[in-house]
Amino acid sequence: MSKVTVPEIRAGKGGDKIRMITAYDTPTARIADRAGADMILVGDSVANVVLGYADTLAVDVDVMVHHAAAVMRAEPDALVIGDMPWMSFHVSPEQTVLNAARFIREGGVGAVKIEGGRKRLPVIGAVLDAEIPVMGHLGLTPQSVNVMGGYRVQGKEAQAAYELIADARALADAGVFSIVLEGVPDRVARIVTAEVPVPTIGIGAGASCDGQVLVMHDVLGLGAGGYRPKFVRPYASLADDAVEAVGRFFSDVRSGDFPSRDETYHMPDDAFDALERLIEADASGDD
Ligand code: KIV
Repeated sequence: MSKVTVPEIRAGKGGDKIRMITAYDTPTARIADRAGADMILVGDSVANVVLGYADTLAVDVDVMVHHAAAVMRAEPDALVIGDMPWMSFHVSPEQTVLNAARFIREGGVGAVKIEGGRKRLPVIGAVLDAEIPVMGHLGLTPQSVNVMGGYRVQGKEAQAAYELIADARALADAGVFSIVLEGVPDRVARIVTAEVPVPTIGIGAGASCDGQVLVMHDVLGLGAGGYRPKFVRPYASLADDAVEAVGRFFSDVRSGDFPSRDETYHMPDDAFDALERLIEADASGDD
């Protein structure tokens, strides 16, 4: 497969469903790419999924660029998008462009994602003017957790849905190449998908979006347990498998079954005999 480009993703509107998943490091990026991802999102969900924070507000540009660079070292064919963290695009268009540029120059990704609707048009416009492709993100935007009063489905009421549709139109007019719709009723996502000329990528937004994204650790069943939103479908139970595997290692350590002869480095007999002679000579010299 050749490298997936932004124009290809934009042109994929209404075609085969677009496949996106998060990755935060080189091994997860390799998994995503080998499985055929069209896009890999280095999501700020790294904060809660990998780094143990309660929400995504804890990570800054340094952390995100560090993870983006690790993903890029997998040399994926998928288009990689860096998630601009909270406070990296809230101060000024100038600062936003400089932060977005770090994702490109230091992280090596092909695009950035910015949460928010019309309110964010000035910063989105500035980043686009700097020739950096932008993916939008509407609906349940986790960086707004404190304003939303928790992780709640957005656009359930008519006026809120109407505003969300207007946000999506405005983002598309501004030039974003794709829009993530998170935590939105399926009927609203269907309208947005029909209204905007760029692909919508759903997460908890029903089946009518042009593509779907999930968090890698949710797909693999590699999370820490606890609350699981209903849109998550785990395709494996790797956390349980991992506990079982590490437990077997520990029991082999206790029983002495690990390491075996084959798992051990060996010294040739003649070298060992010579070593023993050296040690003996030392010992007789000590007398
Ligand atoms: O950070 C993230 O993982 C995301 C996806 C949930 C879209 O923004």
